[in-house]
Amino acid sequence: MRVMSGLTIGVVGAGYVGLASALSFAHVGHRVRVLERDAERVAMLRARRDPLGEPGFDELLAAANIEFTNDPAAAYAGVDAVLIAVGTPTGPSGNVDLSQLDSAAESIARSAPPSAVLIRSTVPVGTGDELERSTLRGFAVTSNPEFLREGRALADSLRPTRILAGGDPSCELLVRTLYAPIIEQRYDAVAGVTAGDPVSFLWTDRRTAELAKYAANAFLVTKLSFVNEIANLSAALGADVRRLLEVLGSDPRIGSSFLRPGLGWGGSCFPKDTRALLDFAVTSGYELSVVRAVVEQNAAQLLRFLHQITREVAPGSRIALLGLAFKAGTADDRESPAVALAELLLERGYELIAFDPAVRKTSARTSNVLLAPSAIEAAVNADAVVIATEWPEFAALDLTAVRERMRGDLLFDGRCILDPKRVKAAGLRYRGVCAPAQPPTSTRSMNSA
Ligand code: UGA
Repeated sequence: MRVMSGLTIGVVGAGYVGLASALSFAHVGHRVRVLERDAERVAMLRARRDPLGEPGFDELLAAANIEFTNDPAAAYAGVDAVLIAVGTPTGPSGNVDLSQLDSAAESIARSAPPSAVLIRSTVPVGTGDELERSTLRGFAVTSNPEFLREGRALADSLRPTRILAGGDPSCELLVRTLYAPIIEQRYDAVAGVTAGDPVSFLWTDRRTAELAKYAANAFLVTKLSFVNEIANLSAALGADVRRLLEVLGSDPRIGSSFLRPGLGWGGSCFPKDTRALLDFAVTSGYELSVVRAVVEQNAAQLLRFLHQITREVAPGSRIALLGLAFKAGTADDRESPAVALAELLLERGYELIAFDPAVRKTSARTSNVLLAPSAIEAAVNADAVVIATEWPEFAALDLTAVRERMRGDLLFDGRCILDPKRVKAAGLRYRGVCAPAQPPTSTRSMNSA
């Protein structure tokens, strides 16, 4: 089922957000052209190969009515709307680096007909106002933040929790028309995604939409850091955090999702968005004390896990690091807690051999980490095994086989994915975020980690 007369849209940026949006809009019947500056990526996409390894992208690339180009004039010819989905990384002083957004806006101003411009990138409040006043004068700028997760980008685009857009009321009809097949869930099942119940469409003013995106991510990290603190306290007091979280999650006001404790949250969104939020809140004269505490807790959480390892495993020991991606289901290791942990362990003189089912090469930050072809092989002669990413295959590991290959018997679970009884039965000592606190071994404080 397709919309009869689709719109023509240009999408700037073929990253997770741009590609997921472009492929979804093409699938529901719009004509889509994607402008990407990276020639290698354009070539791959033209060959209908997915550069990101996202579930479902390959299938849609093969079928969808979509073009890829690095020529702005070709991308924008005759468009009804242009979506900007470029990166907005952290700048040198914690502010947001808007240079990619600015150059996208300049190329639109130069080459696109007067049309609607939808900003999918996460941008500080007031960015849309500023663009409409300057580079994009004469264009109708709408804030249209995304809420998709890596590893589920296509499913989250076709069946989003909600669609948010904000701008001048005159733009609402066009944005609704663009999203109509998704709002009404009128599309053919694809790559395991089937249409569901209608999706709510929330139209606000532009600043509210811009801030809502940051507020959503800040709320989610607040939940995670709170859970991590409760896990730490449970360990100190001898409570069972897993049962405790079941109790918390059974209150619908709290909800049972996003409650897994760990060595800290990371990725390409949460860290940069919380930094940006803190930065532009201060500039606006407001200090976000809760979010600041959450960010500090997250840094402390990683150091706490590091200390659990370093207090029991001597420098120079060999550690099998299971996981490099920032979470399971993606090959992305940007701002990954696993990579940050690897760096800290390397700095302290440990020998690291890592395995990640999706991250198959080391980066500049992990160039001294050896890579093993499997989790079991990473464990060979290891003094300790550390789980740093919540891959389901690590939860299902044959722990007896792991123990047989190891030199030592310590297992540090940084994601609370293993059953301590099963670990013990395999002859391993269970440590980590959800393990009971160990009695003090010396006078060394956490700061010495
Ligand atoms: C996150 C948000 O979940 C999306 O809603 C949002 O659209 C996206 O950022 C964005 O701003 O673009 P994502 O970065 O893909 O999505 O990752 P999440 O699945 O949210 O995980 C983030 C981090 O939290 C990971 O390190 C993950 O391991 C950790 N996490 C998540 C936990 O430690 N415990 C949990 O229960 C859930």
